[in-house]
Amino acid sequence: MKNNGRPEFKRIMIKLSGEALMGDQGFGIEPEMIKYVAAEVAAVHEMGIQVSVVVGGGNIFRGIAGSSAGMDRSAADNMGMLATVINSLALSDAMEKKGIATRVQSAISMNEIAEPFIRRKAERHLEKGRAVIFAAGTGNPYFTTDTAAVLRAQEIHAEILFKATQVDGVYDMDPAIHKEAAFIKRISYMEVLEQQLHVMDMTAISLAMDNDLPLHVFNLHTKGNIARAVCGEAIGTRIYNN
Ligand code: GTP
Repeated sequence: MKNNGRPEFKRIMIKLSGEALMGDQGFGIEPEMIKYVAAEVAAVHEMGIQVSVVVGGGNIFRGIAGSSAGMDRSAADNMGMLATVINSLALSDAMEKKGIATRVQSAISMNEIAEPFIRRKAERHLEKGRAVIFAAGTGNPYFTTDTAAVLRAQEIHAEILFKATQVDGVYDMDPAIHKEAAFIKRISYMEVLEQQLHVMDMTAISLAMDNDLPLHVFNLHTKGNIARAVCGEAIGTRIYNN
């Protein structure tokens, strides 16, 4: 690893794919998969980095899919946000079992099961070595969990957002359809927007671009990838301002 395996960052945001949590079972949370993901996140926490996490909800319910099936978009997105709370609680439990103190903060009030999102409290938790998991997206319909991750990353002054996902990174066209698709190792936010590359939604990319938040996209399923990315290894795709 570059840097002899030393981390390049002090405070990071990790966006985890919700869909990854279902493993091979096609729905919900696969017990071995949540343990794997918790171990991957725990490994970077153990490097002494302040770790915050946003996890998607696509393994349980996707707002966009609900609305395309005829539901009201706001109702469908509200359901999607609740799905992220379930995943956040599962991840918190799995990380605590690995000895990592966690706090779950929800953008939607549900005080009996999670703390409310309070930015300064989240920062204190991070300073005290607790991993903070932000649940319920931004608390608003029409915004994705990618946008929530970009927003929270900026609010808590994370230096970078790692998107640990189902694919290796960004291609110039859909590799599932075009076998000539070329892998992109580095790209600007503007190129992502202009070429409409589906790495994150446009709102998330624009918000990151406007505030110079670096993004690094890579495959969650390759063991050790979050640690590699944190140590500056050139895996996946990096998205910057130029
Ligand atoms: P310090 O202020 O640094 O001591 O942080 P702390 O999180 O340990 O203290 P606090 O007394 O705020 O919280 C104690 C426990 O209660 C932690 O596990 C929190 O996650 C949890 N907690 C705090 N506020 C809420 C809340 O509004 N709802 C729920 N469900 N849990 C909460």
